[in-house]
Amino acid sequence: MQHKTIPKHYLRPRWSFLTQDKKLLVSAIKNGTVIDHINAGQALKIIRFLNLAAQNKLVTVGLNLPSKLMKTKDLIKVEDWEITPEEANQVALIAPQSTINIIINYQVSKKFALKLPEKIEHLLVCPNPKCITNHEPMDSFFYVKPRKQTIEVKCRYCEKQFSLNEIKDYKI
Ligand code: CTP
Ligand code: ZN
Repeated sequence: MQHKTIPKHYLRPRWSFLTQDKKLLVSAIKNGTVIDHINAGQALKIIRFLNLAAQNKLVTVGLNLPSKLMKTKDLIKVEDWEITPEEANQVALIAPQSTINIIINYQVSKKFALKLPEKIEHLLVCPNPKCITNHEPMDSFFYVKPRKQTIEVKCRYCEKQFSLNEIKDYKI
C-alpha cells in the first residue's frame, strides 16, 4: 500500500497547536485588570473577596492553566475595571505571588507590586466559635504575620492565631 505524502504543517510539534489554543482560551483584553500567576485553586476565593461577580463586568477566569513558572496557575481578567491599591493588597493575602496588571488600550499600563497589609478589618470571620466577634454585632480585626510558608493572622479580640488557610468564612 502506498502512503500519501504527509502535508508539512502536520509535522509541527503538537505543543505548538496546544500553546495556540491556550492563548485563545484567555485572549487579550482592551481595558481592565489582569490578575495573573494566582496559585491554582485560589481564583474563586479572590473573585469572592473582591466581589467581582456582582459588578456586572465581563470577567474571564482560567483555572489550573499550565504555567512555565509555577506548573499550574489561575488567572482572572476583568474588563473595564481598575483594581485599587488597597484591593491589590487584599489579593496579596490570598495569592502573594500573583501579578496584577492594568491594561489600557491593549497595553500593560501599570504593574502592581503586591504588599501584605498589616491588618485586616471586616473581611475575615474568626474561626474561634467563642470569639466575641461571632456573638456581637462588631467588625473582626486581625493582625497579619507573614511566615516563610504561610500567612498567619491573629485575632485582636480572642488573641488566637490562625493560618490564613484555616479561615473559611469571609464577611462579604
Ligand atoms: N494581558 C491581557 N490583555 C492585554 C495585555 C496583556 O490580558 N491587552 C495579560 C497577559 O495575558 C498577561 C498579563 O496581562 O497575563 C501581563 O501581560 P504582560 O506583561 O505582557 O505578560 P508577561 O510578559 O507574561 O508579564 P509578567 O510575566 O510580568 O506577568
Ligand atoms: Zn477571635
